[in-house]
Amino acid sequence: MSKALSGFRILDMSHVQAGPTATQLMAWLGADIIKLEPPTGDITRGQLRDVPNADSLYFTMLNCNKRSITVNIKSPDGKQVVTELIKKCDVVMENFGPGVIERLGFPWEKVREINPRIVMASIKGFGSSGPYADFKAYENVAQAMGGAMSTTGVLEGPPFVTGAQIGDTGTGLHLVIGILAALHHRNQTGKGQYVEVAMLDGVMNLCRVKFRDHQRLTRGPLSEYSVPTEGFKAVPRGGNDSGGGQLGNAIKCKPGGLDDYLYVVVQEAVWDALAKKVGGEKLATDPRFAAVSERRKNQNEMWRILNEFASSYTKRELMQILNELEVPCGPIMSTEDLANDEHVKLRQMWVELDHPQRGKWYNVGMPIKLSDSPAEIRRSPLLGEHTDEILREVLGYGDEQIGKLRSAGAFSAPPKARAA
Ligand SMILES: CC(C)(COP(=O)(O)OP(=O)(O)OC[C@H]1O[C@@H](n2cnc3c(N)ncnc32)[C@H](O)[C@@H]1OP(=O)(O)O)[C@@H](O)C(=O)NCCC(=O)NCCS
Repeated sequence: MSKALSGFRILDMSHVQAGPTATQLMAWLGADIIKLEPPTGDITRGQLRDVPNADSLYFTMLNCNKRSITVNIKSPDGKQVVTELIKKCDVVMENFGPGVIERLGFPWEKVREINPRIVMASIKGFGSSGPYADFKAYENVAQAMGGAMSTTGVLEGPPFVTGAQIGDTGTGLHLVIGILAALHHRNQTGKGQYVEVAMLDGVMNLCRVKFRDHQRLTRGPLSEYSVPTEGFKAVPRGGNDSGGGQLGNAIKCKPGGLDDYLYVVVQEAVWDALAKKVGGEKLATDPRFAAVSERRKNQNEMWRILNEFASSYTKRELMQILNELEVPCGPIMSTEDLANDEHVKLRQMWVELDHPQRGKWYNVGMPIKLSDSPAEIRRSPLLGEHTDEILREVLGYGDEQIGKLRSAGAFSAPPKARAA
């Protein structure tokens, strides 16, 4: 069945998480992703291995539905293969460290000379310009520098990283948007262009509401924060505050385990019903909570009362009670909860797959649902599994030419690197 991105071919030189997560999404949308790896493979194939001699989950969970070719781009014959592939692709992608793509001989100026219609997409920690341009970056470096860590955690504690991979996967998502826009533009103009997303920029974009609060601080304290903000020049860590116009917090439930909390948003419209349920008419008419401005001022007392009420219920029981009152709320779900959740299964967000080296395993499914071309999730490729297939089908090479290139070392590591 044809897919939304059927017909687009992407030469994916990206590695680790930020790039591969972007190309996996495009593969699920139907693009043909040629994952071009060094002969030793994407480093994540061997990182955090849970099954001996099998590709790690780090790799398999980020590289589904792709084809793998190994090419030693440092060898002249390898460079020739890359040049030929660039001619046959719509997009070339990379997220190497600063200066690497230039050292390999494929900067944008060269790539567009080879194929003026191609879109080239790069992820860098900090972009290709500015004082930080030469620095490498990983997820938590981007969270640290993009405003996420300084605003996550509690006021009296250290900065925290968030579990969601906003630096890597978040940047990958931004890149996909850029690639699709550039392809649309290319289809109108016939010309490709260079798309760059810096991880720092992506994290700042995801922290946009914190920069809203940053500017509000110049006019006075932030009334919705449960911590004092008087005199602050930078947005503080606000614990589990909602961060929006409505008050919210994680309420502790029975039996008091690690994840026994329900996140509750005390939406303006539901206060009356919620207050009556929790503390009867007395709470509903309590002047300390009558207006939202009063609830903001006295929110720590309001949370104390809600916590007391919640201590008689499990998070699921409390969710049911509050859902009946149309209070927006959600239990804190552990990874174990989610892996066994009926709703998640039904939405195909925890998908069982098979793999020749590891047997049965699970991947998080495709979060973007298209009505006419739904994603069909297939396992990640073994290292170099499609090298010959791609050379034949995409480049039209025959056995003899492939044999010559192979003996010249185009697809393998130089002997020294192999021994290592
Ligand atoms: C993630 C990162 C820190 C990893 O650093 P690293 O492991 O030192 O990897 P680099 O990208 O700097 O370098 C890769 C090396 O492999 C080589 N290489 C990669 N593919 C190759 C191929 N097919 N053939 C031959 N050599 C290859 C490169 O030439 C480079 O070697 P060199 O330094 O001798 O030129 C770095 O790539 C980076 O900052 N990337 C941009 C930001 C990013 O995406 N970070 C998030 C990752 S999830």
